[in-house]
Amino acid sequence: MNQLITQKVRLIYALFILVLLSPAVSCSSAEEAKMPEIIENSGRYALLVDGEPFFVFGGQSANSSTWPKMLPGVWNTIESMHANTLEIPIYWEQFEPEPGKYDYSMIQMVLNQARERDVRLVLLWFDTWKNCSNHYMPGWMKQDAQKYPNIIGKDGQPVDSPSPHATAAMEADAKAFAEFMAYLKVADPQHTVILVQVQNEPGSWGSVRDYSSVAQQLFEQSVPEALLQAELLAQLNVPAGTRGTWEEVFGTNADEYFHAWSVASYIEYVAAAGKAVNPLPMYVNAALRDPLTNPPATHYESGGPTDNVIPIWKAAAPSIDFVAPDIYLRGDETVLKVIDLYARPDNALMVPETGDHVKYLYKVIEKGIGFAPFGIDTHWAGAANNSPNSSAGAANDSPNPSAGAANNSPNPSAGAANDSPNPNPLAEEYKLLVPMAGMLAQWSFEGRIHSVVEPDQGGQIQRIDLGNWEAVIRFGRGQRLDLRQDPQPENRNGKAMIIKLGEDEFMVVGTTCRFTFNPIRENEGKAWQYLEVTEGYYENDEYQMIRILNGDETDWGGPYIGEKPTLLHFKLVTRE
Ligand code: DGJ
Repeated sequence: MNQLITQKVRLIYALFILVLLSPAVSCSSAEEAKMPEIIENSGRYALLVDGEPFFVFGGQSANSSTWPKMLPGVWNTIESMHANTLEIPIYWEQFEPEPGKYDYSMIQMVLNQARERDVRLVLLWFDTWKNCSNHYMPGWMKQDAQKYPNIIGKDGQPVDSPSPHATAAMEADAKAFAEFMAYLKVADPQHTVILVQVQNEPGSWGSVRDYSSVAQQLFEQSVPEALLQAELLAQLNVPAGTRGTWEEVFGTNADEYFHAWSVASYIEYVAAAGKAVNPLPMYVNAALRDPLTNPPATHYESGGPTDNVIPIWKAAAPSIDFVAPDIYLRGDETVLKVIDLYARPDNALMVPETGDHVKYLYKVIEKGIGFAPFGIDTHWAGAANNSPNSSAGAANDSPNPSAGAANNSPNPSAGAANDSPNPNPLAEEYKLLVPMAGMLAQWSFEGRIHSVVEPDQGGQIQRIDLGNWEAVIRFGRGQRLDLRQDPQPENRNGKAMIIKLGEDEFMVVGTTCRFTFNPIRENEGKAWQYLEVTEGYYENDEYQMIRILNGDETDWGGPYIGEKPTLLHFKLVTRE
């Protein structure tokens, strides 16, 4: 590995000269910026970009979009959804078409185009594992199954998944990844790239672990000391002091835990090689298991960072800054459980892939550092111009005060509803939230954000304890909240987020809900009223007021917000 690092250093200097001479990276743009960093305080996390808190309001391209003729569609979608970050893969098979020969052109192309649009990048290193298989290994590796073997299943059957015990593959991956990171170090001093995903949904389907003779020999040995720390064993429900083979220590979980350790250790080797030359924050994404029923490992992708083996991943892969859930599961109970399981004191929450789960965006802002739907250029391509906006529709159909603002005010979010219909359910959200991304990241880090979703099982009133005030959020549609309009569970998509700015001062964002407050604790029993309620938006992290809300817009149980996400600023006052 040391030899590898020395080679990297030599390469960095060679590339440095090359890149400075290249027209793609002018000297003036190549200013050294602060390295992106993940910071932690009392179990809360923030991603720092250019030294400032940053929330990833992202979108991930489809798998096969990092090609010159595909990128325009990707950028169109990123622009129409107002994202501040694009997540996009770099393919090992394209990057290293022949052993030791590297093609940096796709990386440089994506860097150049992101900078032209002032969009940040999360690069996804598609290498040994892509959704449990090794289909992104270069052709010269695919053709040498002896040297770069797959897993052998329990009955001796071949499995379409790479073995984590294939040392030659691991070394080849580490070497290529170090090249990739070394290139970025030189070509991206301004840190357009803010995070790197190492692998994609690693693990295996079709076999809980590798049963090859090499793997079996390791499996029959003692569990490594690093996994036997009392605190770690406690998290895995194993009595402190337990020692022995994998089966002796972990019983029926031994196969899965051994595989998780093996996959994570392999990825640590790869990540550490990259980090040694360029210490960008790195993460691994997880194909999830059902978080509520503790299913057997035959029912999900075994060996990846599923919630039950996060402690094993933490011990095996310290170069990985966090493990991240790809949330395609549905239902409030399930999704909220996943969010809690990954927002751990020792793990920053980011959702690098999801479907149309806009409902949980505020919950991820409250607890995490980033959110991105998957396959944007496939699912929402050309969305901006083709079909009616549900939010705008609501704005036109109802006497919603927020909708009124949409037609009359300089609110950029409101403008979109009128002149650019967009069915991308995130476009209106991102348009409102991206200009305040820095504030949101800071507030989240300080623990000021509280959020609730409209329960899919019904129960429209949600309460949030804010000290001497309790926020009361009533979900539902219609100007004067009409409970008879309770929609079907799948359409109960309201959400609300409250930011506590001071004892009596709150910023709120919501959809299909009405906000009001109750005086509690020191304020209990006191008469009170709104000192001032304003509707507004942010521009470069500065609040811009559109109007003061009063009269009908605050009576009738507090201001009502329709389907279009809206930002309100409350100041409350007691009258005695
Ligand atoms: C999850 C994977 O991580 C993505 O790359 C993509 O394959 C999606 N599944 C497909 O739905």
